[in-house]
Amino acid sequence: MDLNYDEAHIKGKTILITGGAAGFGAAFGARWAAAGATVILGDINTSAGEKVTAQIREESQNQNVHFIQLDVTSWASQVNFFREAVGLSPHGGIDTVVANAGINDVPEANAFENPKVDYMNDPSPPAPTFKTLDVNLTGVMYTVHLALFFLPKNPGSTNCKTESTTSEPGRDRHILLLGSVASLHPLMTQTPYTVSKHGVLGLYRCLRISGPVNAGVRVNIVCPYYTDSQFMQAPVRTLLAGTPLGQPEDVVEAATYLVANSSCSGRSLVTGPKLKLNPSTGELDVLDGSKGGQEGPIWECYLHDMDPADIFTQRMLGLVHAAIKVRGWVGWAYDMAGALTWPIRQRWPRSSR
Ligand SMILES: NC(=O)c1ccc[n+]([C@@H]2O[C@H](COP(=O)([O-])OP(=O)(O)OC[C@H]3O[C@@H](n4cnc5c(N)ncnc54)[C@H](O)[C@@H]3O)[C@@H](O)[C@H]2O)c1
Repeated sequence: MDLNYDEAHIKGKTILITGGAAGFGAAFGARWAAAGATVILGDINTSAGEKVTAQIREESQNQNVHFIQLDVTSWASQVNFFREAVGLSPHGGIDTVVANAGINDVPEANAFENPKVDYMNDPSPPAPTFKTLDVNLTGVMYTVHLALFFLPKNPGSTNCKTESTTSEPGRDRHILLLGSVASLHPLMTQTPYTVSKHGVLGLYRCLRISGPVNAGVRVNIVCPYYTDSQFMQAPVRTLLAGTPLGQPEDVVEAATYLVANSSCSGRSLVTGPKLKLNPSTGELDVLDGSKGGQEGPIWECYLHDMDPADIFTQRMLGLVHAAIKVRGWVGWAYDMAGALTWPIRQRWPRSSR
């Protein structure tokens, strides 16, 4: 798909990125700092975070790049991250929160499917650990919960416009989630990771509707396929040998499109190797340049997610559409009142009242 955006719309935005010391988080930070955003990276890895921050500052010549130590699994740490970020933001608000921190603890996944403890006879059998769920799900829920508190308080921001077709620069209220192909398909043997990323997708599917209605916050998700980064461990690389991987720059491009376009709301982009849709078979082929069809490393998914599937969804959607309509009329009435009282307000400006 074509991703049209105006990079100038990123300038001046305050963007928080969890897990910003490496991989996608660091690459997002570098790209958006170069475009003039205030970037606040949070990560559990302090030395890597401070190093990346210094590097981004130097390369972008942007001094509004900061690092705050953050453990997303700790509520207190997350609260501190958001509070400190507000203090560092030049305009005192937050425009975009990227819930990016994520892990895949492979030994833990193996242990889950192959219980080694004698649960019958062990006098005090330990519970299994779920670090992957702690970071990828509880951590993301903490981040999103705080984002839903702080984003509507962003000074000068307004409710996101779900029906707008043009992007606008300036203040924003945006949550960007990092899903995965594991949000859409099972990664066999990687059960906790798959469960966590399905959970992140569930979060997106709920909030893409209620976020704009309740808090004027737009919610989007990027779901990368296996991408060439430190996240990809040796066994997975071995299994995928000979097949193309996704490229980090395509993940950055998809995320940048969503950050720059304030009219993007409820969008879900999948990134992967360069593929094209074979129009005759409807299948995706690895790009080899020999056949026609649409090509590219970024696709939209969940386009028809909101087609009514059951009575509950149908009625909820009815309520949402009604709320949008009412909000439209309220907005019109507000503008009309402003227009009618304008001559009076002109005569007695607020400062002289
Ligand atoms: N790389 C891929 O192939 C791929 C594919 C699909 C989805 N993803 C998702 O993209 C996101 C970023 O992945 P990446 O490839 O950049 O990974 P990465 O390992 O390169 O970076 C993840 C960062 O998160 C940090 N982190 C880990 N635990 C944390 C915690 N408790 N608190 C704060 N920070 C913590 C790490 O220190 C690291 O800097 C993850 O959510 C991941 O699941 C990655």
